[in-house]
Amino acid sequence: MKNFTKCLPWVRPDTNFAAMGSTDVIVIRELSKVYRQGEINVTALNRISLDVHEGEFLSLMGPSGSGKSTLLHIIAGVDRPTSGECRVQGIDLTRLNESELADWRNQNVGFVFQTFNLIPVLTAFENVELPLLLTRLKGKQRRHQVNTALELVGLADRRNHLPRQLSGGQEQRTAIARALVTDPSLIVADEPTGNLDAHSAQEVLEILQSLRRMAGKTVIMVTHDPKAAAYGSRSIHLEKGELASACADANESDGTMDRAPRLCHAEESNEMRPA
Ligand SMILES: Nc1ncnc2c1ncn2[C@@H]1O[C@H](COP(=O)(O)OP(=O)(O)O)[C@@H](O)[C@H]1O
Ligand SMILES: [Mg+2]
Repeated sequence: MKNFTKCLPWVRPDTNFAAMGSTDVIVIRELSKVYRQGEINVTALNRISLDVHEGEFLSLMGPSGSGKSTLLHIIAGVDRPTSGECRVQGIDLTRLNESELADWRNQNVGFVFQTFNLIPVLTAFENVELPLLLTRLKGKQRRHQVNTALELVGLADRRNHLPRQLSGGQEQRTAIARALVTDPSLIVADEPTGNLDAHSAQEVLEILQSLRRMAGKTVIMVTHDPKAAAYGSRSIHLEKGELASACADANESDGTMDRAPRLCHAEESNEMRPA
């Protein structure tokens, strides 16, 4: 994998990645989401509390309908909870109005979807450039960032290809470049390997892992595949809108009472995480 700090010169150059991991970048307390469908209420999330450290790669697991996407969408600022608190980088997302939330999202979050969601009539370059068109960056800087992001995912030579001229794995890597190009601190991925063969899935997971390890990104990935989840630094499981199992993380306990439990930690376990 490439050297991200060298390749991404616009990435906060003074970032001390070694010092990361001690700050809770996401703090969730008693978070609930209830969807109303006519007379029926569907509780998608039921009083979830969770902390995520800066620079973690969190795998969010659970059966279909357990609330994984709902939780991801609330953390990423595309959906709002019915009650409870969701603070990301110290900002209580529930207090932002729609336009503030959209601005926050554009600056801080990169999205990767199961179905890639590339625009079919745009080239790989143009797809990756799209989020930058919402910024004030000049054309030359935009081109530089797009080319660098495409290089990072190993697709510099495919920049003029349309999505239909790319394999599934290449499409997803283009989507990762698009998620990265604005240098967001948080990358969220919903079943990013769900439509990929094993080899392409591995490439995508290694890139996501490198974003965390080499560029200090916080990555949250929804998956129901334990092999994919093992690439993360920690896995948590949702069951019917609740965190399924809680085990205190002795290594990281700071003794304070208001911390949410750390769940099923797999940090630095060579057994759990493919090299
Ligand atoms: N927009 C919606 N309107 C009504 N119900 C929804 C909506 N989105 C999700 N749900 C319901 O919330 C629950 C959790 O959904 P979701 O977060 O998509 O689960 P998962 O991603 O784990 O499969 C499911 O019962 C689902 O049907
Ligand atoms: Mg889902």
